[in-house]
Amino acid sequence: MKDKIFEPRILGFLCNWCSYAGADLAGVSRLQYPPNIRIIRVMCSGTVSPHHILHAFQRRADGVLVAGCHIGDCHYLKGNYLTMKRMKFLEGLLRFAGYEPQRLHLEWISAAEGGKFADTVREFTERIRELGPAPSFEAVPKATAIKVT
Ligand code: FES
Repeated sequence: MKDKIFEPRILGFLCNWCSYAGADLAGVSRLQYPPNIRIIRVMCSGTVSPHHILHAFQRRADGVLVAGCHIGDCHYLKGNYLTMKRMKFLEGLLRFAGYEPQRLHLEWISAAEGGKFADTVREFTERIRELGPAPSFEAVPKATAIKVT
């Protein structure tokens, strides 16, 4: 019997003003990228809370991409600075929860960068394919209590 090929499930949170328009440009330019990504359009990458990302992993996403405007271009001025801080925090949180932090990726993609969007999705899908399926929340070892002496 043939082994089933692992197809990563990737969720992408794309900011409306830049990255979503970049994804749209990739589409109208007929650029090829893997169909593994499902996109959620958000008004700003800064509106993506850690809760959304953890919930995505809880619902069996193998990888999460967050994409927003380049630094200095956020339409809400400081949204992407907030995103940068959150992503650092989330990397640690994922590591603590037993997930490889590489399953989360942040990229700045402008409305004119359709090619960059396609390349990002291609490279991220390959990375997740190499990592394999994400562990389920039930399979993640429970954190053991730290004994304070
Ligand atoms: S509006 Fe695009 S990152 Fe804030």
